[in-house]
Amino acid sequence: MNDRIMEGKTVVITGASAGLGAEAARQLAGLGATVVVVGRSPEKTAAVARQVGTEPLVADFARLTDVRKLADTLLDRYPRIDVLANNAGVVLSKRSRTEDGHDLMFQVNYLAPFLLTNLLLERLTTVGPARVLSTSSNGNRFAGVDLDDLEGARRRSEMLRYGMTKLQNILFSRELARRTQGTGVTATAFHPGIVATTEINRTNPLIAALVRYRLLGSLVSLEEGAAPLVHLATMPDPEAANGDYYHRLKPNGPAHPQAKDDQLATRLWERTADLLGVPVT
Ligand SMILES: NC(=O)c1ccc[n+]([C@@H]2O[C@H](COP(=O)([O-])OP(=O)(O)OC[C@H]3O[C@@H](n4cnc5c(N)ncnc54)[C@H](OP(=O)(O)O)[C@@H]3O)[C@@H](O)[C@H]2O)c1
Repeated sequence: MNDRIMEGKTVVITGASAGLGAEAARQLAGLGATVVVVGRSPEKTAAVARQVGTEPLVADFARLTDVRKLADTLLDRYPRIDVLANNAGVVLSKRSRTEDGHDLMFQVNYLAPFLLTNLLLERLTTVGPARVLSTSSNGNRFAGVDLDDLEGARRRSEMLRYGMTKLQNILFSRELARRTQGTGVTATAFHPGIVATTEINRTNPLIAALVRYRLLGSLVSLEEGAAPLVHLATMPDPEAANGDYYHRLKPNGPAHPQAKDDQLATRLWERTADLLGVPVT
C-alpha cells in the first residue's frame, strides 16, 4: 500500500481528543491526511492536534450553538472536506438535559452529528466525493427507535438508550446515503469493536462490568478499534460501502431489524430535522 494515500485529503474527526478518534486521527495523519481534530476538552484536543500537526477545534455537543459555531469554522477554514467522521459519543449512567432542552446522551450521540452533517452538507456535496462515517455500536441491536419517543424518555435503562442512539446513527447514515445518491457523497456506519481502555466504557458501571467480563464480546486493542474508521476513510471504492453498516471490517453487520427499515429512516430524518429547524431537502 502507498504509505501516503491520504495526501491532499482533509479528514474531520469528532471525538478525536481521546480514544478511538484520537487513534484514527494519528493513523490517518500517518497516511498523509490533514486531520482536523475536534474534541470537547481544550487540553486533550490541543494535545492530539499537536501530534498530528493541525489546529484543534473545540466544541461541546451538549450545546447546539457550539455545533453551529464548529460548522461555521469548518466552512470558513476548510474549502474541502473529504471525510467527515462523526465519532464523538458518550454513555451515561444518569439522565440529564442540555440547555437546548434535549436528553444529553441523545443530543451528543445523535442530534449533534445530524446537525453538523446537515450544516456541512452543501460543502460535502459540491466538493465531493466526500465520505460521512458514523461510529455506531453493536449495542444498536438491543433497542429499537420509537418515533413517538425519539429521545428514549420512556426507556428505563441507560444502556438501552445508548443502544437506541447508536441505531439512530445507523438509520441516519442509511437515509443520508439515499438522499445524497448521485452526488458522490457516501455514508457508512460501523461498529469499531469493543475497546476496554477508552473512557466511554468506564462511565456506566453496568457497561463497565459487561466489558470487563467480556459479556459484550471479545475485546480489541485501541489500534484495532480505530481500524474500521481508517479502512472506510481510505477504501478505494466507498460506493461499495454506501448506506451499509459495518461490523468492524465486515459489511452488513448484525443490527436491529429496524436498521434496514427505509421508511423509518426517512421519518426519523424528517422528525429530527423538524426538531432542529433544519430544512428537509
Ligand atoms: N470503546 C468501545 O468499546 C466502543 C464500542 C462501540 C462503539 N464505540 C463508539 O466509539 C466512539 C468513540 O468512543 P471511545 O471509545 O473512543 O470513547 P472515549 O475515549 O470516551 O472518547 C469519546 C470522545 O467523544 C468526545 N465527547 C464526549 N462528550 C462530548 C461532548 N459533549 N461534546 C463533544 N465531544 C464529546 C470526547 O471528548 P473529550 O475527551 O474532549 O471530552 C472524546 O473525544 C463513540 O461514538 C462510541 O459510542 C466505542
